[in-house]
Amino acid sequence: MDNTKKQEDFHDKIALYYNTYVKKEIFDYYISVRVKQILKSIGSKNSKNLVMMDGACGTGELAFLLSKHFKKVVGMDLSENMINLCKSRYENITNLEYKKQDILNLSSWKNKFDLICCTDLHHLCGKQNVKKFLETAKKALKKDGVLFITDTNMGNLIVSRVVNKINKKFHAGNEIYLTKKEIELLLNKTGYKITNSYYFGLCPSFSPKSLIPFFDSLGNLISKTPLEKVSVNFYIIANSR
Ligand SMILES: C[S@@+](CC[C@H](N)C(=O)[O-])C[C@H]1O[C@@H](n2cnc3c(N)ncnc32)[C@H](O)[C@@H]1O
Repeated sequence: MDNTKKQEDFHDKIALYYNTYVKKEIFDYYISVRVKQILKSIGSKNSKNLVMMDGACGTGELAFLLSKHFKKVVGMDLSENMINLCKSRYENITNLEYKKQDILNLSSWKNKFDLICCTDLHHLCGKQNVKKFLETAKKALKKDGVLFITDTNMGNLIVSRVVNKINKKFHAGNEIYLTKKEIELLLNKTGYKITNSYYFGLCPSFSPKSLIPFFDSLGNLISKTPLEKVSVNFYIIANSR
């Protein structure tokens, strides 16, 4: 079974439990951070004129919150159960659509989006498929479109090697945490122009919510020093040109 099929089956199985993995208040906090960062990524453009896609939208919260700011939002996910959940939660919102779609192949969406965001997908794909996604997303973006990626940063090579080994045993398939630098290299190879990239956040998801902003502010400070790689998340914003 190929990795994409494994991911589909795995996420179909966990769709109903996905939101129980992290405490709701912590999940909500991170989603609200992402909304702010995504709005920042479009610079001076007016979001109300922009059509965007949330690639690998999972249970759909981010796409829903973004629909309050953008002209239109399409949330896409490989898992039918995830998409059905999104549809049942967020009904009758005229500028919000959810679709079952493998986002490693967006050939029927050429030149459709001003912005594509993709949160916590890349560690599930394997390096070859991350490249495939970047290539297909570039074609789905309009000229001068924005690609916004965030994923978990594994700090350093030793940590990421250990986590990647553990992942192989307990996850669906081909999970591998690429570093920020590795994704940046792939973006350069596929012809994007990186406009901003940074590490953000320190907080482990089990800490009390009240402490998260404090940890995140430490993460922000650290990310300005050579210790930056101990941050938890990385964000990369790139332009399709
Ligand atoms: C870790 S979850 C992240 C969900 C959401 N973006 C978030 O940040 O909570 C990964 C999601 O990616 C989806 N996915 C995995 N491979 C995909 C692909 N090739 N195309 C579309 N969705 C995919 C899975 O079904 C799952 O819902």
